[in-house]
Amino acid sequence: MDIVARAKELESQGRDIVRLEIGDPDFPTPEIITRAAEEAMAAGSTHYTQSLGLPDLRAAIHEHYRRTYGVDVDSEDVVVTQGTSPAMLLLFGALLDPGDEVIMPDPCYPAYPNYVSFLGGVPKALRVHARDGFRYDLEQLEAAITPRTKAIMITSPSNPTGAVLGADDLDALAELAERTGVHVASDEIYHGLTFCGPEHSILEFTDRAFVLNGFSKAYAMTGWRLGYLIAPREYVRSAEKIQQNFFLAANAFVQHAGVVALTQAQGAVAAMRELYDERRRFLVPALRRVGLTIESEPCGAFYVFADARCWCEDSLALSGRLLEEAGVACAPGIDFGEGGEGFLRFSYATALERLEEGVRRLEEWSEGRTAAVRR
Ligand SMILES: Cc1ncc(COP(=O)(O)O)c(C=O)c1O
Repeated sequence: MDIVARAKELESQGRDIVRLEIGDPDFPTPEIITRAAEEAMAAGSTHYTQSLGLPDLRAAIHEHYRRTYGVDVDSEDVVVTQGTSPAMLLLFGALLDPGDEVIMPDPCYPAYPNYVSFLGGVPKALRVHARDGFRYDLEQLEAAITPRTKAIMITSPSNPTGAVLGADDLDALAELAERTGVHVASDEIYHGLTFCGPEHSILEFTDRAFVLNGFSKAYAMTGWRLGYLIAPREYVRSAEKIQQNFFLAANAFVQHAGVVALTQAQGAVAAMRELYDERRRFLVPALRRVGLTIESEPCGAFYVFADARCWCEDSLALSGRLLEEAGVACAPGIDFGEGGEGFLRFSYATALERLEEGVRRLEEWSEGRTAAVRR
């Protein structure tokens, strides 16, 4: 956030900054979705809905999971929330007693450990490595499970790494969860943005799973605040109580727009996905050319997590220097855990021309640095 604040400050002073630190799609929300919200608002959908969400939206989520993954999610097990973030509060609030543990990868999305700690749980970070495609080492994972472990967190496609878990990975995790009696908590918010093959939900492999999902990323709807939790039946009532007490319900007209997003905006999502992929295919080799190491190809979301230790071990200091000296903003890997130290996260939720300009600046900066070292 310091980098974001400083980038904005520099921009307000008239400096042109290439903004590659942001996880917010640069595309406008597809018009068909915006129109649906306007129509719903005009038709009077401006009041509370059921806490669990509009029946039409819960049915559309059921249908989306059936069509996309061939799984039969009961719409009774879906809780609609104001974004994926509140769904995390519902999940961990319903699942954890104080002292319960949740295993999560390091690096990972930083809100997970914060939610778990906030609820009195214990986040247990397990180091994952670029050389393994940022997958858990299954032996280490099993060894980390204790009688207090309630869930194994996965994010695929991943923020910050862009890594995608395949069917075999998910199958192995499902088997482990079933054998050891823990749940898998699967954050599927970047689904719809996978570039190297079919996309799988954890629900294809096990029912011992919670799914977090939302509309922010694939549908370019970060500001709308709409998401959902799919929970095993025995946790739905607890999640509902948290929703009722803390949030009441998601916005009514936004939920109507969510139905249209799931049922009529897949073409728009596919068009955005194609453009993200074009940017990814430019950015990965371009960053390698400027000297950064990307051991495993990022195949989803809109991030490249590059090893920048050739430039500097301290990712926060490095991202500060790149901002000041090169006019390029990116996220320091340390933000995502100690396992991210030495890495930089570049977001390609930015037009191709800006990515090209960013890479040009990095190249120039790197050459200047090498020349200075030689001198
Ligand atoms: C992995 C992951 N999960 C959840 C979120 C939060 O999503 P939402 O906007 O739906 O709250 C983000 C946002 O960047 C994310 O990267």
